[in-house]
Amino acid sequence: MTSSASSCHAESEDGERFDDDDVVNHMIFTMMAAHDTSTITIAMMGYYLAANPEWQTRLRAESQALGKMMIGYDDLDALPSMDLVFKETLRMNAPVGMVAREAIKDTEIDGHYVPKGARLMLGIYPTQRMKPWWNDPDTFDPERFTAERQEDASHKFAWAPFGGNVHKCIGMHFGGMEVKAILHQMLLRHSWRVPAGYEPVIDYGTGPFPGDGLPIELRAATAAGRGSD
Ligand code: HEM
Repeated sequence: MTSSASSCHAESEDGERFDDDDVVNHMIFTMMAAHDTSTITIAMMGYYLAANPEWQTRLRAESQALGKMMIGYDDLDALPSMDLVFKETLRMNAPVGMVAREAIKDTEIDGHYVPKGARLMLGIYPTQRMKPWWNDPDTFDPERFTAERQEDASHKFAWAPFGGNVHKCIGMHFGGMEVKAILHQMLLRHSWRVPAGYEPVIDYGTGPFPGDGLPIELRAATAAGRGSD
């Protein structure tokens, strides 16, 4: 931050302001941190629900049982299957696949000496696709997150799509809410599917996304408010 003149008028207690470059850089960060992460999650949940119609039907039934198009934060607890699919999608497609860190003192990790100042990349994506933390890790299986199975309890950081400790995502609850609110409306308004055996070509921008544009067949819901099969 700098105290030079800028179009930003908000000041810290010490009189510091963002200059225009700071504002631009923060906007770029927010586009990646808040927008790309959420859209990747929505797109990949859309794919899994198309490829696994039994899950799409299950989520639609819960959304219909809520009986309202616009949901509030307190309604999310009434969509437990949505939460299972949300968690499994983030496990298999961590939008933030790696996080960067710098060692602030000499230390040791799993028998490896790490000197102060060393830069480390932590692999959220690979960790969430690895045995022994997960059974059959490349299979879409949302029920691994149920209270009965709790595979995510295998390690504190086995499921860490929002990171951990002091830099843990500040948009975690907001991000979950917007993803679920959008899918709730999509489930009530439409049904959708992909051809049997279709798998999206995964591309990597700020995170994994369907590089082929995810061509789904979308159908309008019937008058009864049910997505047609
Ligand atoms: C599914 C959606 C999201 C995912 C998977 C996600 C993931 C993450 C991860 C892994 C980090 C930690 C980065 C690190 O430790 O270096 C992070 C940080 C952050 N996220 Fe998110 N995020 C999501 C949504 C959002 C939303 C909606 C917002 C804002 C409205 C947001 C704002 C931020 C900010 C500001 C940070 C930096 C926190 C800090 O460094 O103290 N995120 N996010």
